[in-house]
Amino acid sequence: MQTQKSVAWRVWDWLDGRYKLASLMDALLHVEIPRSARTFYFGGITLFFFIVQAITGILLSLYYQPSPDRAYDSILFIMNEVNFGWLIRSVHSWGANLMILFCVLHLLRIFFQGAYKAPREITWLVGGLLLGVTLGFGFTGYLLPWDQRAFWATTVGSEIAGAVPLVGKTLLVVLRGGAEVTARTLSRFFGIHVLAMPAALLALLAIHLTFVHQQGLADPSAEAAPQGDMAPVPESGQEKKKLLPFFPHYVLDEVIAWYVMLAALIVLASLFPAGLEEPADPLRTPEHAKPEWYFLFLYQGLKVVPRIVGVTVPIVGGVVLLLLPFVDRNPHLAPAKRPIAIAIGVVSLIGIIAFTIWGWLS
Ligand code: HEM
Repeated sequence: MQTQKSVAWRVWDWLDGRYKLASLMDALLHVEIPRSARTFYFGGITLFFFIVQAITGILLSLYYQPSPDRAYDSILFIMNEVNFGWLIRSVHSWGANLMILFCVLHLLRIFFQGAYKAPREITWLVGGLLLGVTLGFGFTGYLLPWDQRAFWATTVGSEIAGAVPLVGKTLLVVLRGGAEVTARTLSRFFGIHVLAMPAALLALLAIHLTFVHQQGLADPSAEAAPQGDMAPVPESGQEKKKLLPFFPHYVLDEVIAWYVMLAALIVLASLFPAGLEEPADPLRTPEHAKPEWYFLFLYQGLKVVPRIVGVTVPIVGGVVLLLLPFVDRNPHLAPAKRPIAIAIGVVSLIGIIAFTIWGWLS
């Protein structure tokens, strides 16, 4: 007896007959990952927060108005009049902070496992650019509520850019759209936040994930990174045992991680909703104007060391970090066999955390 196929399966067959979707899904899902891979799902969680940001950001942009005389009131409207507007805004605010946090955690796990080494140099480089865009999202989004905190955090934050040798002054004017933070800065930041940044992030993400898919995950149990152009292709049965199907094993774990993050996000956004200070007043400087937490270490550095040192050290550090796979020629993966890289990494991390706390408290 012939069983009747459900409508969904018939639609699938119809599409598959035309677009060969089954072979596409096969190529995307039926890859294998090393059993020893420990990603802690940080990359996938960063992706999850980006999706949350895109959805909540689109909802917010239905009501937000990017001009100094309308921005603040439109935020008040979202919080007080729009159904669940306060929650959507809070989720967007918490999501931004958590996306940055998990992007940094993802970078740290890759650094400590040596997963940036050959053949993953470009995946790391594109990842570094992704972190830059993620921070850019945070920086440009922070100004949009146009309250005192937003205005002055952007004022002092853009001063950091202004301190860069040679190009600092030009950079400051380009960022602000003039010498001061004004209506032009607001519309510029809005355009960058909702158009330029999403386009850049999507393009970089497509490259990043395609490369990760093509190479598979790095194997931290391997002794050293492959030195040739190609990642080794496991063939023998012994080698095969070291691999695990990506689907459904890894995908199911990732889904659980996303659910946990969704729950945490809703709890945080409900218990600690995003606040709003008084409307921005360019003539009244608050006592403690500070940038967002992820730029605090830079800001504090600039306050306590000579300006040239406070700017040059982070720039050189950032460039070395971006080009790390080309700078660090040690092929070993185990932290014990990479004492110099690990020591520099740990000292830099402690320094950044210490300066952040110092900036927070002062
Ligand atoms: C928006 C930001 C980012 C997203 C959404 C993202 C996403 C991902 C995902 C889903 C993976 C698969 C494995 C995992 O989950 O860990 C991955 C792997 C990888 N990412 Fe990212 N990533 C981002 C930023 C970065 C950054 C900042 C770096 C480093 C500078 C980086 C470097 C890498 C490398 C080298 C791999 C391969 C790791 C391996 O083979 O074990 N990524 N990324």
